[in-house]
Amino acid sequence: MPDVRLVNVTKRFGKIVAVDNVSLHISDKEYFSILGPSGCGKTTLLRLIAGLIQPDEGEIYIGDRLVNDVPPEDRDIGFVFQTFALFPHMNAWENVTYGPRVKGFDVRKAERIGHEVLEMVKLHERLDAFPNELSGGMMQRIAVARALAAGAKLLLLDEPLGHLDAKVRNELRYEIRRMTKDLELTAIHVTHDQSEAMAISDRIAVMKKGKILQVGTPQELYMNPQSIFVAHFIGGSNFLEGFIAETKDKMAVVELRGEVKVQAVNKGVNKGERVVLAVRPETFTIKKGRGKGENSIFGVIERVAFEGTNIRYEVRLENQDLVVVVTPSLICEWFNIGENVTVSFQPENAHLFVYPEVGLREETAVE
Ligand SMILES: Nc1ncnc2c1ncn2[C@@H]1O[C@H](COP(=O)(O)OP(=O)(O)OP(=O)(O)O)[C@@H](O)[C@H]1O
Ligand SMILES: [Mg+2]
Repeated sequence: MPDVRLVNVTKRFGKIVAVDNVSLHISDKEYFSILGPSGCGKTTLLRLIAGLIQPDEGEIYIGDRLVNDVPPEDRDIGFVFQTFALFPHMNAWENVTYGPRVKGFDVRKAERIGHEVLEMVKLHERLDAFPNELSGGMMQRIAVARALAAGAKLLLLDEPLGHLDAKVRNELRYEIRRMTKDLELTAIHVTHDQSEAMAISDRIAVMKKGKILQVGTPQELYMNPQSIFVAHFIGGSNFLEGFIAETKDKMAVVELRGEVKVQAVNKGVNKGERVVLAVRPETFTIKKGRGKGENSIFGVIERVAFEGTNIRYEVRLENQDLVVVVTPSLICEWFNIGENVTVSFQPENAHLFVYPEVGLREETAVE
């Protein structure tokens, strides 16, 4: 059934390489997200799969079929766009039954499908409403219903929640996942919102400048980012710069600015090499006063933000590096601006990378 395979796919627009030698295998019935910053080529990738544009190089397979030369209408795909793309002159009912009617289903079958999908998106009572009488969230639900009603087994969603407010967005993302799972569809969901991708995906491909940097489950990407960009884009990280002072067995001693030394798990770095150590804000523990022990760094609280569930501290370390530390507010001690503290982390929870050639700022840039 509809697994999707891209083999060395490239798409150029003049000098821009929008999709750069991408190979991907999305399994049948998988909820797969393509995640990356604006302009990285997500929509282009989706349009290639849909057949709205053709690749310059490479092959695209849907199931066993090479679809490079198959027009969009013969690819058996449902498409949901970011902007509300309902037919404005048709009510909800006419919008969702449009696909079955065009397909030539008899009236009874088209109506049965229409009722089913409207029940599914919980908008059956609004079947008479025209798009301009519905909220943004309702319109996107109808758009999903319309895509489902057409009977496609492969659903492509391009930022389907992008124009909705936060609360509706949060609810609808779980609903869309549930529906695709209930109907055993393959879904490819494009988003620039990492929390959305993390919350609903079986697997995620992180994309940057036309390339796929890493593919994995949300847990894999969080626990084992293989690049500075992924450590930054998924979950966020503090980046501490330094040099390798020593390597022994599986560990490396990193000398940070100001001769502060910490231990990290060695991932193929050599003595003397310039490195970046990524430490997530929630990885740090924080204690009052000047503490001792492995990977403990002394500092002063510079800023505090109470965020409800968490407290976010900015801590100026003794070597003048600034780190963000996030602690759960109900189970951790609270600190005030100006307080002396010690932050520490477990070596296995930090990620060591070779310093990027283009510099750290450019490497983590999202525009
Ligand atoms: N039809 C086109 N003609 C010329 N350039 C294009 C065209 N479509 C896309 N591009 C360029 O290709 C690159 C990737 O664009 P794309 O729309 O795929 O990005 P995106 O990841 O979907 O971004 P966003 O999150 O802002 O929607 C951009 O540099 C864009 O300007
Ligand atoms: Mg886009």
